[in-house]
Amino acid sequence: MSKTRKILVTSALPYANGSIHLGHMVEYIQTDIWVRFQQLRGHKCTYVCADDAHGTAIMLKAEQNGISAEEQIANVKAEHEQDFADFLINFDNFHSTHSEENRELSELIYQRLKANGHIANREITQAFDPEKNLFLADRYIKGNCPKCKSPDQYGDNCEVCGATYAPMDLINPVSVVSGSTPIEKASEHFFFKLPEFTAFLKEWTRAGHLQDEIANKLAEWLDSGLQEWDISRDAPYFGFEIPGEKDKYFYVWLDAPVGYIASFKNLCARTNENWEDYWLADKAKEHDTELYHFIGKDIVNFHALFWPAMLSSAEFRTPTAVNVHGFLTVNGKKMSKSRGTFINARSYLNNIHPEYLRYYFASKLNNSVSDLDLNLEDFIQKVNADLVGKVINIASRTAKFVAKAGGELSSNIADDALWQKFLDADSVIAQYYEEREFAKAMREIMALADAANEYIAAKEPWALAKDPANAQTVLDICSLGINMFRVIMTYLKPVLPELATKAEAFLNETLSWQSSPSYLGAHNINKFKPLLTRLEQEQIDTMMEDNKAAIEAATENKVTGPLADDPISDEIKFDDFAKVDLRIALIVKAEHVEGADKLLRLTLDIGDSKTRNVFAGIKSAYKPEDLEGRHTVMVANLAPRKMKFGMSEGMVLAAGPGGNELYILSPDDDAKPGMRVK
Ligand code: 2FM
Ligand code: ZN
Repeated sequence: MSKTRKILVTSALPYANGSIHLGHMVEYIQTDIWVRFQQLRGHKCTYVCADDAHGTAIMLKAEQNGISAEEQIANVKAEHEQDFADFLINFDNFHSTHSEENRELSELIYQRLKANGHIANREITQAFDPEKNLFLADRYIKGNCPKCKSPDQYGDNCEVCGATYAPMDLINPVSVVSGSTPIEKASEHFFFKLPEFTAFLKEWTRAGHLQDEIANKLAEWLDSGLQEWDISRDAPYFGFEIPGEKDKYFYVWLDAPVGYIASFKNLCARTNENWEDYWLADKAKEHDTELYHFIGKDIVNFHALFWPAMLSSAEFRTPTAVNVHGFLTVNGKKMSKSRGTFINARSYLNNIHPEYLRYYFASKLNNSVSDLDLNLEDFIQKVNADLVGKVINIASRTAKFVAKAGGELSSNIADDALWQKFLDADSVIAQYYEEREFAKAMREIMALADAANEYIAAKEPWALAKDPANAQTVLDICSLGINMFRVIMTYLKPVLPELATKAEAFLNETLSWQSSPSYLGAHNINKFKPLLTRLEQEQIDTMMEDNKAAIEAATENKVTGPLADDPISDEIKFDDFAKVDLRIALIVKAEHVEGADKLLRLTLDIGDSKTRNVFAGIKSAYKPEDLEGRHTVMVANLAPRKMKFGMSEGMVLAAGPGGNELYILSPDDDAKPGMRVK
């Protein structure tokens, strides 16, 4: 066995203004499996997390709930901790960024950045809500797009035409917080001089700390030039005041990753370890400690640019690796509240055993950043087939014959070649776990389970047992069966910790994986009790119903309905309307646009001699392959517009507030391309 590694692991800190959903769980389950694997292999592996408790969103949420920000974050923390515990996420510590440790560490790091000349300050002008006395981030301002005039667009870019602009360029800008008209106001801000770290980051991002696809993406950003990062926010703000400044706060993203250190430091006060051994550059080197962050692909810039730069300036260590995963889709679609596929952790837990999801995610996770789909039909099929049908079946078919023989396993290995197969798989599976190739590990394990079941089916111990002369043969076969089950459960222990505990009670031993498995003979096992039941469709149905009710309850205080915050536009004359030539269009092709976050490129056919190229801001709501072949409605006589990514020759019609709640209009089936919409 290799030396004992000292590993510290984190998952991203969830915001303290909302509930945990299954999208979050991809990351916590992925991380937890990796941590449990390291521990099972005998390494010292510590897993910390915390709530991300600062920022305007949390301040406003508390206000909306009529409680203090401190109460808000305490309530959410209790809920989050329960959800994680019930999903068997085994944090060594779950802390909060609103903590003394975090204040001290954030101040320390900031002071070091400042002393090194890495902080700049200057006045900037921003949108300001005069009623709330609040500077407004872009997402808190809405108005009509200055370019295409579409209503209800956020302050930084238009989801319809893809234009980017400053919030005050919006036509009729409105503060989402108070409904008032924002004004422009200047204030002093503090900036982290990120461009000074360009050379360092060009090297760091290529030094094996990141997946290649992430390093490539970052290379594009690094080549196009980094900007200074605004790390301050004006009062009122829920966060830490910047030392030496008045009414200036650290931006939530400055102290959020510091929360990783704070949580570990808070833990060390109880374990008598030294937090510095894992975090200060010189000590981490001396003690050979490793640090891994698991994150989603949306927050790569914070973790793979800003964070290593800050850490290196402050003479802290940088991460050994930042492990990035993709998003969760449900039944092939982006999660959406209106489709009811935004499944809350609690709705799941109220109905379905956590280990089913842990196994399902494991069976789909790899070390790429591609998205992962929870297909609810496949979910039922897979957990029943693999866990109940394959794994548990091995023990349930053989345990009774061992019990009949007195409960003691035989030391005779009935099939050496088969047993050898189980031993040989050990290093392959371990390597897959190490590399976060969980899907491959699960496939290897299920192949072993198949081999075990085939062996038992071929030997038919139940038939042999009819003749007492076969007693020893039957015991040998079934002892091999139990040993194969043991090894499979050992390999699955990081994924299915509770099932492993039940198996351990049955096997009368603790399953460990510090070395290659040995054959367990001359050992008494306990009575076999059913370890797992089948997952039923009704459980999924009830979960979805519960979830729908939970989403409705969460939104019931809000004014809902499409017109709630989207009043009808000013009247127009019929002649104006008649100028708009709306046609049924066939979406011949839909593609991603390199470098565009919101746009898809559509090739539309309206039944005339040429197809039209239209950029539509619907990427957040649709996958291109789901659009191809569909009919929709387009504005066919819109003058072509030159956009950043090419010419757009028209516009498709879609409804909804934006994000993934956007629906392209579709005619009834018989409508043909080119038909005029009247
Ligand atoms: O994106 C998010 O949900 C953030 N709350 C993650 C923070 S991770 C870390 F940097 F704190
Ligand atoms: Zn626009």
